[in-house]
Amino acid sequence: MRKILVTGGAGYIGSHTIVELITAGYTPIIVDNLCNTSHKNIDGIESIIDAKVKWRNADCTNKYAMDKVFSEEGKIDGIIHFAAHKSVEESVKNPQKYYDNNIGSLKVVLKCMQENEVKNIIFSSSCTVYGMPDVLPVDENAPFKKAESPYGETKQICEEMLKSDNCNSVALRYFNPIGSHPTTLIGDCSADRPSNLVPIIAECAIGKREYITIFGDDYNTPDGTCIRDYIHVVDLAKSHVKAMEFLIKNRGKHAFNVGTGIGVSVLEAVKAFEKINNLKINYSIGPRRSGDIEEIYANVNLVNIKLDWEPKEILEKAMKSAWDWEKKK
Ligand code: UD1
Repeated sequence: MRKILVTGGAGYIGSHTIVELITAGYTPIIVDNLCNTSHKNIDGIESIIDAKVKWRNADCTNKYAMDKVFSEEGKIDGIIHFAAHKSVEESVKNPQKYYDNNIGSLKVVLKCMQENEVKNIIFSSSCTVYGMPDVLPVDENAPFKKAESPYGETKQICEEMLKSDNCNSVALRYFNPIGSHPTTLIGDCSADRPSNLVPIIAECAIGKREYITIFGDDYNTPDGTCIRDYIHVVDLAKSHVKAMEFLIKNRGKHAFNVGTGIGVSVLEAVKAFEKINNLKINYSIGPRRSGDIEEIYANVNLVNIKLDWEPKEILEKAMKSAWDWEKKK
C-alpha cells in the first residue's frame, strides 16, 4: 500500500482527494492544522469510506513539527501539497501572510523530502499563473504573465521552486473548482468570506445575500460577461490520483492543466444553477472587478493523454452539488 502525505488534506480539494486516494488503494495521511477548515471534513471522509483516516495536526511551515511527521511516518511514497491560503482578496490586503505561508510551507516540505529521501510531489497550482493568455484554450507552454495578486505570485514562485529542486514533481494548474461530494459530507469549510462565483450564487439561493453582482457585461464575449472553465471538485480530486500514479512511474517534472476545456460565461453559470436547482437568483450588473481577466479556459490535451484523465461530471451536476452543500453546511 503506497503511503501518501497530504498537506491540507482536510481542506476543500484536499478532503475530496483523500476519498479518491483511499478508493484507489492508497494510504493517505492528512497533515493539516485546521487553520482554515474544520474537523467536520475528517469526520465526513471517515463516513464516506466507512473507516478511520490518519490525521496529523501540524503546521507545514514549522520544520520541527514536519520533521516529527516525516520521521514517525516511516517510508513515504509521495506528497500532495495543498496546504496554502487561497483568498485572492486577502492576499492583496496582507501579502506577507501569503508569502510566508504559501512559499514557506513548500520550502519546509521540500527540505523534509530531501532529508527523508522522498522524491515525488504533486503541487496545487492554478490557472492564475497564466494571467490573461494570448491564445485560447490556454496550454501548458503559455508563458507566465505578471501575477494579478500576491496569491497568484506565490503559485508562480512555488512552481519555480519545484523546477529548481531535485524532486519529481507535477504542478496541477486548477481552473475553477466548484461543487461538492454527492454525499454532502465534505466540502469547503473555510472561514473565508466567499468571493468565488458559485459559493456566492449559492448564498443568494439560501437568502444570505439578496442578489449577486455580475462584475461587468461589457467584455468582448458573446454575452458580455467573463468566461471561465468550471471543474467539478470530484473530477479535480481524481486527477491527483492519476498524477501520483504517473509520477511514481515516470519521474521528472511536469505541469498539467486541470479543467474541462469548456468556457462558460458568468450569466451561463447563473442560469445553469437556476435551471438544475429549479430556483431563481437575483442579479444585477455592476462594474468590472479589478484584476479580472476576460476569458480563460483550458487546453486539456496533455492531461487527457499523459494522465489518462478526463472530467466526467457536467456543469449542472456540479451546480446541484454546490446547492446541496450550501443547504447542508
Ligand atoms: C479567482 C482568482 C484565482 C483563483 C480562483 C480560485 C481572481 C482575480 N482570481 O479566479 O486566482 O485561483 O479564484 O477559485 O480573483 N464573479 C461575479 N460576481 C461575483 C463573483 C465572481 O461576476 O460576485 C465573476 C468574476 O468576475 C469572474 C467569474 O465570476 O468572471 C469567476 O470568478 P471567481 O469565482 O472569483 O474566480 P476567478 O476570478 O476566475
